[in-house]
Amino acid sequence: GVSGRDGARGLRFTPVAPNRDDRVTVPDGYTQQVVIGWGDPILRGTPDFDPERQTAKAQSGQFGYNNDFLSLLPLPGEPGRQVLVANHEYTDEVLMFRGYDPEHPTREQVEVAWAAHGLSVVVVQGEHRTGRLTPVRRHPLNRRLTATSEFRLTGPAAGSPLLRTSADPTGRKVYGTLNNCAGGTTPWGTTLHGEENINQYFAHGSGTTDKRYGIGAGATERKWERFDKRFDAAQEPHEPHRFGWVVELDPYDPDSTPRKRTALGRFKHEAAQPRLTDDGRPVVYMGDDERFEYLYKFVSARRMMRGTSRRAREHNLTLLDEGTLYVARLTGDSPGEIDGTGKLPADGEFDGSGHWIPLATGDVSHVPGMTADEVYVFTRLAGDRVGATTMDRPEDVEPSPRTGRVYVALTNNTDRGKPGKAPADEANPRALNKHGQILELAERRNDPASDRFAWRLFLVAGDPEDPATYFAGYPKERVSPISCPDNVAFDPHGNLWISTDGNQLGSHDGLFGVATRGDRRGELKQFLTVPTGAETCGPLVQDRRVLVSVQHPGEVDGASVEKPASAWPDGPGRIVRPSVVVVYRKDGRDIGV
Ligand code: FEO
Ligand code: CA
Ligand code: CA
Ligand code: CA
Repeated sequence: GVSGRDGARGLRFTPVAPNRDDRVTVPDGYTQQVVIGWGDPILRGTPDFDPERQTAKAQSGQFGYNNDFLSLLPLPGEPGRQVLVANHEYTDEVLMFRGYDPEHPTREQVEVAWAAHGLSVVVVQGEHRTGRLTPVRRHPLNRRLTATSEFRLTGPAAGSPLLRTSADPTGRKVYGTLNNCAGGTTPWGTTLHGEENINQYFAHGSGTTDKRYGIGAGATERKWERFDKRFDAAQEPHEPHRFGWVVELDPYDPDSTPRKRTALGRFKHEAAQPRLTDDGRPVVYMGDDERFEYLYKFVSARRMMRGTSRRAREHNLTLLDEGTLYVARLTGDSPGEIDGTGKLPADGEFDGSGHWIPLATGDVSHVPGMTADEVYVFTRLAGDRVGATTMDRPEDVEPSPRTGRVYVALTNNTDRGKPGKAPADEANPRALNKHGQILELAERRNDPASDRFAWRLFLVAGDPEDPATYFAGYPKERVSPISCPDNVAFDPHGNLWISTDGNQLGSHDGLFGVATRGDRRGELKQFLTVPTGAETCGPLVQDRRVLVSVQHPGEVDGASVEKPASAWPDGPGRIVRPSVVVVYRKDGRDIGV
């Protein structure tokens, strides 16, 4: 069976068995608790949550819906406290409003949904003896950013005619951030937030670029276009161009305007995690989460300034505006041996070499037939033109702080190999890929600014009894089953933690830890599972605590407020609330030691 408490350091816990319990299950000796959930008031003057009497005004001071990415930043001078930053990816109105009529949403419901999107900043207090965390209501750093807050477009495409609208002839001032999925934490103390499936908010798209970004020709499901014409692309064709960016937020400055960084390109950004070059320039790795989309990186031209002086902070807020955007091309070393079944090639690995293809540097385009502005705003088309490699839904990408190797979660692609679609290749080796894989990328000379890399698959997910799975060569009878890897994070010991979205093995989604080095490399162990209908997001592992976002609990076909599919977290008869959960040891010791 799966190995027990004797794992790699940081992973010494008895794995949780796959299950379909409507709760958060954790290993023996551990406990879990909700830190904060949808509707909890965080700003001064905000009322307690009342699901039967929701208002946009109340929601704009309360924790938003569908928490996803999480970051915890230090708060010097306030012992035991940290700054929690959370994404609120999207709203699910039938689970939010009693009696919701999808054909006729009310203005109040739509405005509540606008206020439930975006980001939350909330200071949390750690308990001295345990990993327990509680929110500090009304802390001066607490903040909500929503679909109507002010954001600024910066970088080489800011001000471009492609970004101008009738409400904003400057092409630099945007209201709102939408569909913030995963993100990243920078070494200079800011957070990054990927705007992912922004197509779903815009009605009446037209032309090849809207089509390439999935903006449909019809009305939207939420029908926001009835309440604000900027969501109607027939009336404001450039408004969709102002979404689909990486947002940078300075959580330490509650008066700052967050920036949308055009230098990092526009696509369905899952996440954005930086790593520094030896000379201090940030390199940001990014996935475009859709079937057959690409893997990207941005290499800054500027060096980070150390310290927290005002000058350093101001300088560091310019790092992501100047540099080069690249897209990845991967070439397998076992051509002709990939048959779509997942059978390992004769050399024993799915592996090969790669090339980062430059797309644009500042105002200079490297893509024939496209201007630099077009490369940034229609980055997917730039990737098409240069022959980037289509991947199986590139989600979170995380460089190891220990080794520099970069881990890419490729969540699944059930269209791989279908007629008219790209066939399996060595990096995406299974046709009709239900379970996904994790790719490990090593930059040449371990220089993140290099334009060459080597890669190999680290995990090919699924039931270990399925011959088409692979766990870095580790004995399969000693690993937990895993399906649909999505978000990835490193713990203080250098182990990789993986959360899942859409488990296809009959269990609820969960969180897993795996060693990436040493003789336990590939020993994957399940740490928790989440309630019915939920996805596990935002994993974050500190010495004494693990945080996860429990996103969209109760989201099951046919479920509604009246017919809930889950009773989490508040029990039967209460509205289901997406929430952030902390897990820690009952004996107060460190996780997994
Ligand atoms: Fe919002 Fe790709 O998950
Ligand atoms: Ca995700
Ligand atoms: Ca090979
Ligand atoms: Ca996902």
